[in-house]
Amino acid sequence: MNVLLIGSGGREHALAWVISASPLLSKLYCAPGNGGISELAECIPLPVADHEAVIRFCKENNVDFVIIGPEVPLVAGIVDDLSTAGIKCFGPTKAAAQLEGSKAFTKGLCHAFNIPTGTYGHFTDPDAAKAYLAGQPLPIVIKADGLAAGKGVVIAETRPDAEAAVDACFSGAFGKAGEEVVVEEFLPGEEASVFALVDGTTALVLAAAQDHKRVGDGDTGPNTGGMGAYSPAPVMTAEMVQRTMDEIIRPTVAAMAKRGSPFKGVLYAGLMIKDNEPKLIEYNVRFGDPEMQVLVMRLKSDLLEALLATADGKLEIFDLQWHNDAALTVVMAANGYPGTPQKGTQIKGLAEAAQDANVEIFHAGTKRDGDRLLANGGRVLNVTARGKTVAEAQARAYAAIAKIDWPGGFCRKDIGWRAIAREKTV
Ligand code: AMP
Ligand code: GLY
Repeated sequence: MNVLLIGSGGREHALAWVISASPLLSKLYCAPGNGGISELAECIPLPVADHEAVIRFCKENNVDFVIIGPEVPLVAGIVDDLSTAGIKCFGPTKAAAQLEGSKAFTKGLCHAFNIPTGTYGHFTDPDAAKAYLAGQPLPIVIKADGLAAGKGVVIAETRPDAEAAVDACFSGAFGKAGEEVVVEEFLPGEEASVFALVDGTTALVLAAAQDHKRVGDGDTGPNTGGMGAYSPAPVMTAEMVQRTMDEIIRPTVAAMAKRGSPFKGVLYAGLMIKDNEPKLIEYNVRFGDPEMQVLVMRLKSDLLEALLATADGKLEIFDLQWHNDAALTVVMAANGYPGTPQKGTQIKGLAEAAQDANVEIFHAGTKRDGDRLLANGGRVLNVTARGKTVAEAQARAYAAIAKIDWPGGFCRKDIGWRAIAREKTV
């Protein structure tokens, strides 16, 4: 079959890598793709926000299946439009994508269906939000309701900071996303993520992972899209994964079906674990980036077949096989990230770095210029490795990084520290 993959990051390179190995695939297109994806797929400069243009491309090129990587097209309703045109897709409809597109929607659903999460208030004007804040303990979390590329969250330690965050949202710091504001209870604990394929009624767990959101070693400095990740996540024991499925993910799937907007695609539950209790922080309606880069290294089954079973509503009779190995990915970012990253610097040494059969280097923001490979984004490379333990995967990833010649970039030196500390005590 012919497949069109939408997106341009490391997540999409990882997807392209596993999909291109599927015996079901005839031809892979990617819009817009990047310098790494272009080795595996035909990259096409389609304007993804123009759904008519995407439909036309699919019809002209006999595309049988469209896989959407990022959240923006999902929340914009690309799946609704492609489905109406008779094109099969992997991803939720616009109504179901509200689970990521509106934090108030998700909080409301959790409270209506007893899904464990923190308490919250939802506001459309600053005075009401500030009045609510006054009665809440600190720290407190202020969020723009809509999509803000991970930037719309402030954890305020003081009331003036909380009020300033409310004002920033309502004064347009996040555009339309901040026209409504959610104020929520700060949940302490250890963060982890669980990914599940959902076909409208059945949820099939993929795996758990942890990422490192802060830019600096020791989890310090500003938040980023993610500086590295690993799987499995030691805090997510088999029992904790089971509880997450039973108490959080399956009730959500049932609630969405009951409300007439069944969820199809991948549900990514961002969790906080404390005293052996999982609570939902947020949902995403797409694979994690860079979490997907580690999941594909552990997956034995054909992912394309699994994504098709999801779209066809056939997960009930589907099974997924995993390698027992751990996997870890280190993000190499361009100097300046997460502020203004320096673009256009040259990267060398990737072929040598990727020689170890247990290492894959996914491109997150690169472009080719003749024979040269150039940085073209904030997060640029995801150096990913497999190992018997997280520690072994980490050693392989950093050994590969040592061979990469890129003075224009940097990475954290401690990805996986929490898991490795746990492995040492076992
Ligand atoms: P989000 O964009 O919702 O993923 O939030 C970004 C990060 O802020 C999360 O990964 C958490 O580390 C943190 N965060 C968000 N909401 C909460 C909360 N209610 N309690 C504690 N930390 C939170
Ligand atoms: N790594 C965080 C995310 O994909 O949202």
